Amino acid sequence: MNPRIIFFDTTLRDGEQSPGVSLNLKQKIEIGRALAELGIDVIEGGFPITSPGDFEAVKTLAKEIKGVTIAALARANKKDIEVAWEALKEAEFPRIHTFIATSDIHLKYKLKKSREEVLEIAKEAVKYALSFCPDVEFSAEDATRSDWEYLAKVVLEVVKVGAKTINIPDTVGYTVPHEYYNLIKFLIEKLILAGYEEELKNGSLRISVHCHNDLGLAVANSLSAILAGATQVEGTINGIGERAGNAALEEIIMTLKTRKDFFEKELGYPLQININTKKIVPTSQLVSKYTGMFVQPNKAIVGTNAFAHESGIHQHGIICERSTYEIINPEDVGWTGSAIVLGKHSGRHAIGFKLRSKGWQFDDEVLSQIFEKFRTELKDILKKIDDEYLEGILIDLFWEKE
Ligand code: KIV
Ligand code: ZN
Repeated sequence: MNPRIIFFDTTLRDGEQSPGVSLNLKQKIEIGRALAELGIDVIEGGFPITSPGDFEAVKTLAKEIKGVTIAALARANKKDIEVAWEALKEAEFPRIHTFIATSDIHLKYKLKKSREEVLEIAKEAVKYALSFCPDVEFSAEDATRSDWEYLAKVVLEVVKVGAKTINIPDTVGYTVPHEYYNLIKFLIEKLILAGYEEELKNGSLRISVHCHNDLGLAVANSLSAILAGATQVEGTINGIGERAGNAALEEIIMTLKTRKDFFEKELGYPLQININTKKIVPTSQLVSKYTGMFVQPNKAIVGTNAFAHESGIHQHGIICERSTYEIINPEDVGWTGSAIVLGKHSGRHAIGFKLRSKGWQFDDEVLSQIFEKFRTELKDILKKIDDEYLEGILIDLFWEKE
C-alpha cells in the first residue's frame, strides 16, 4: 500500500500572519468551508493561545466543519497544548500541531537552551499532546538550518513517543530543491533504519514539508521533498504568509496533476490527488477578497493573466489548438476559459476570432482591411484593446452589424 499525498492548508494560521492581514470569524469560517470543498485534508485554523480571535476561530471550525482534520498550533509547552485542545476538542478529526526550533541559531538566541534540553521539551510536548488527542504533528522549526544529525535525533525521538506527522519546515525559505531533497531522504533513511519503513509506506507515519518563499523556491522545494518521499505538503492559498509567503498550494496541486506521469514514474507508485480543482480559482478569489491581498496578474494558475494570450503567434496557436500554448485547461481550475487579449502584439487571427465569435461575419479580404487599420493606427496607441472599443471602431469603418 502506498500513501497518498496529504494537503495541509495553513492559510488561516501562517497565511493570516501576512503583514496587514486580519480576518474576522465569519471570514475564517467561510474560507474554512471553501478549503473543505476544495478537498484539503488538514485545515490549520489558528494558534489558539495567541488571541481570543484565534481560539474562537479554531473552536468554531472544529464545531462546524466536518469530514476534514482541523489542526491547531501550540508551542511545545503545557499551557499552549491545553488551550489548543480546548479549542479543538469538538472537531471530528482534531490534530494538535506542536513545535519547537532545532537550529543552533534559534536555540542560542531565541530559546536560550541546549540541544539536550530542546530534545526533552519536544518529547514531553508530544507525549502531553497525545494525552488529549491521538493525532499529533511535531514541527522542528528552522529544520533546514539545523544540524542534520541532531535533527534526525529529534525526529526519531518524537516518533518513538508517538508523533504521527513530522514536519520539516524551511522556516526562513533558506534551502534549495536539491539540498531539501537530500535532507528529506536522509531523515526517511534514518526512520527506515530505525524500523519505521512499513509505517512510512502505509501512511501511518508521515514526513511533512512546510516551505517559505524568501528565495522564491517554496513550491520547487516542496515538490522536491515529495520526490524524496514526503507525503504531507503544507502551504497556503495564493502563497500568502509571513514575509514572502508560504508555498502556494494551488501551484503544488496543479504541478502534481499536470505532471502526474513524471511524479508517478519517479515515485514508483500511483498518485492519488483528491482535490476538486475547479474550486481553486473561486477559493483563491475568496482568500484575496477577505485578506485584501491582491493576486499578481502573472501568478501561476490563479492570476488573471495565467490563461491570457496577447501575442499574435500564441493567439493563432491557441485558436487552432489550445494545447499549443496551454498546459492546463483553464476550466479545470475554475476559470471560464482562456482569454484572447488584443494588444500591440496581437495578430490577424485573433482579431478575426474575436469579432467572429461576437457574431460579425466578413470574408478574409475585409479581415485584412480591419487588421491593416488595427496595425497602422491602433496597435501602438493602446496597450490593451477591449473588444467593445475594437468593435466600435470597426462599425464606423466598415459596416453595420447584421
Ligand atoms: O515556518 C514554520 O516553521 C512554521 C512552524 C510553526 C510550522 O510555521
Ligand atoms: Zn511557517
